[in-house]
Amino acid sequence: MRDESGAWERLLALRRCGGVVPARRGEEPPAAALLDLYLPFAQVPQGRRFAVAHLGQSLDGRIATAAGASRWVTGDADLTHTHRMRALADAIIVGAGTVRHDDPQLTVRRCAGTHPLRVVIDSERRLGADYRVFRDGAAPTLVLAHADRVHSGERLGDAEVLGLPRGADGIAPAAIVSALAQRRCRSLFIEGGGITISRFLAAGALDRLQITVAPMILGSGKPSLMLPEIHAPDQGLRPRLRRFSLGEDMLFECIFRD
Ligand SMILES: NC(=O)c1ccc[n+]([C@@H]2O[C@H](COP(=O)([O-])OP(=O)(O)OC[C@H]3O[C@@H](n4cnc5c(N)ncnc54)[C@H](OP(=O)(O)O)[C@@H]3O)[C@@H](O)[C@H]2O)c1
Repeated sequence: MRDESGAWERLLALRRCGGVVPARRGEEPPAAALLDLYLPFAQVPQGRRFAVAHLGQSLDGRIATAAGASRWVTGDADLTHTHRMRALADAIIVGAGTVRHDDPQLTVRRCAGTHPLRVVIDSERRLGADYRVFRDGAAPTLVLAHADRVHSGERLGDAEVLGLPRGADGIAPAAIVSALAQRRCRSLFIEGGGITISRFLAAGALDRLQITVAPMILGSGKPSLMLPEIHAPDQGLRPRLRRFSLGEDMLFECIFRD
């Protein structure tokens, strides 16, 4: 979904300053498609917290090979999509496994926009300071860990380290959302991996979940979502959906809260 219509710039302006919803009626595609997909993230109401997660997976529900290679399950359009979602967020969150396997930069490079706060959940402090997010200085970075693993004022490379209470299953997602809200980060983009997003989903801490499905089968590898066992299909989640095609891939957006 390329944009030569200025629609992306209008979305960024809306995010920065609020204001009037850009007109959608009469927009030519692809501007109309861009506004449809991104408006909910560009105009989060004042005071509201908003958490959206994204995973790119194969038809058989894998996000990476067993060894952790995930480049690239989904295609170019989905990669551009993740950069747009970053640009509309106050903070991007990833789990320690994603940093360990991908060494991502977590910056906005495929579209206009500013880099959000980069947040890495490394509860037991297993990550060293050599990963790019901790030393490239490209954007502010925060490590979240169990409070008993953190010394006051501690840093990991350039990153600040914040201790949060130990919950029943690691750090409670609600505690993460609150800690980030205290830092004026209300709009969160949780970018992976499967374990991290599953914990947010299980805790009811997601407003929306985007799953981009690539028309391929990995047949083995790291699973996408893992939730507590259910006994019958009717106990599964059936959220309201929006669907968008992204090149050869299909993006399904689950809406849990408006
Ligand atoms: N296709 C995609 O969209 C996509 C996106 C991102 C990553 N990936 C791939 O996915 C793989 C990594 O995903 P993953 O599911 O294995 O791991 P992950 O979600 O990246 O990281 C999981 C780890 O993060 C920490 N963590 C996350 N949430 C926590 C919480 N609430 N409380 C405490 N600790 C928490 C834990 O670390 P400790 O166990 O150390 O406490 C947990 O084991 C990589 O291979 C990466 O390439 C794919």
